[in-house]
Formats: sequence, structure tokens, C-alpha cells
Amino acid sequence: DVAAAVEMIHTGSLIHDDLPAMDNDDYRRGRLTNHKKFGEATAILAGDSLFLDPFGLLAESDLPAIIKVELLRELSYAAGSYGMVGGQMLDMKGEEQQLAISELQLIHANKTGKLLAFPFVAAGIIAELGLADVADLRTAGELVGLAFQVRDDILDVTATFEEIGKTPQKDLDAEKSTYPSLFGLDKSRQILDDSLDQALAIFQKLKDNRGFNFKKIEKMIEGLRLHG
Ligand code: IPE
Ligand code: MG
Ligand code: MG
Ligand code: MG
Repeated sequence: DVAAAVEMIHTGSLIHDDLPAMDNDDYRRGRLTNHKKFGEATAILAGDSLFLDPFGLLAESDLPAIIKVELLRELSYAAGSYGMVGGQMLDMKGEEQQLAISELQLIHANKTGKLLAFPFVAAGIIAELGLADVADLRTAGELVGLAFQVRDDILDVTATFEEIGKTPQKDLDAEKSTYPSLFGLDKSRQILDDSLDQALAIFQKLKDNRGFNFKKIEKMIEGLRLHG
């Protein structure tokens, strides 16, 4: 239920992100975007439902009430004005402008980092870990989130439609500030790798201190690297 809840918000964020008033994209995951297929009104309402239904799903999940309240608070902060939606607002305001590096970092941390950190934080909360361990999981999740968005920015420039299932070069068209536009491709790849290495170091620490087996997460993190 917790995994489904964050995935619903993720999918809703993409449906809205693709709308004509936002990034105006025709393809997602190799298929027509929601608004192209079903119309704008349905896409707006689909996003609305995917943002609201997860809170009911979480509330009904089979977990202690105190843990559910923590998860609800975390998901709300990761998704709303203090997270993804806030970051998307800054992303829209930043179009056709040359942003400072710190401004781009703030956009990426909010539009992608916080929602991607939620599953890591949620796992810690459900496992009833202490505050320091949950803080480490949050940092690791934020690093994976940053890496994911830097990777997405790189692929916008370098990948084909077949590889990413969406129209490439869209960030150039919209004059978005991205990691490649501010740092260049080589440095962006370096930042991607460094972020993944830093996340892995945190999981190594959790393994050393708590015996945490991070084999599956390691595989997922390694899968985010771009070679060549
Ligand atoms: C979207 O970032 C981040 C969201 C919160 C949905 P992008 O606009 O770069 O994502 P793509 O390239 O359309 O997938
Ligand atoms: Mg966008
Ligand atoms: Mg987009
Ligand atoms: Mg993108």
C-alpha cells in the first residue's frame, strides 16, 4: 500500500507535467500522454485523483496508527508545496532563464528528490528505526533522487525516442536550465556517478552498523549509471 501510494503520486505528477500548460509532451513511456489519449479534462482529473487517493490508501493500510500518521505527513510534505509541486512551480518559473547552480539544485531537490526519498524514509519509519538512521535513509534517497533527475536531464540531450519513450530534446526547446545546460555533459555524468557513490556509501554504513542487507538497492542504484 505504501509503495502504491507513492507510485500513484509519481504517475499523477507525470500526467500533469506533460499537460500543454506545463511541458506539453505528446509521449510518455512510449505511448501517447494521458491528455493526448483521453483529453485535458480527464488528464487533470486523473492527476487530482492520483494525488488524493493515496492518502486514503495509506490511512487504510495495515500498520500501527502512529506509523501511518508519520507516513501521511512525510508523503504530504514530499508531494505538495514543500516538495514535488513546489519544485514544479520553480521549474516552470525558471524556463527561458539562465538559473544559478543553487537555484537548479533547489528545483531538482524539490521536484524529484523529495518524492524519491519518500520510499527510503518510509521503509525506515515502518521498520521503526531511530532518528539518525531515518535521516541517513533520507539523505541516501535524496541523492538517488538527484541522480535520477540529472540522468533524466542527460538523456533528454543524448537519448533517442526508443530509449526513453518520450520526445528527446524537449528541455532545449523549452529553454530549461538543466544539469547539461549548466555543467555540460561530462560534468553532469560525473555528478550522476558521485551522487550514486555517495548514496551507496550511506547504505554501506547502514550495513556496517546495523547489518542492513542492501543488495537489491545496490543493484537498482547501479542500474542508474550511464556508461559512454
Ligand atoms: C518532471 O521532470 C518531474 C516531475 C515532478 C514530474 P521532467 O519534466 O524533466 O520529467 P520528464 O522529462 O517530462 O519525464
Ligand atoms: Mg517538467
Ligand atoms: Mg516533463
Ligand atoms: Mg526531463
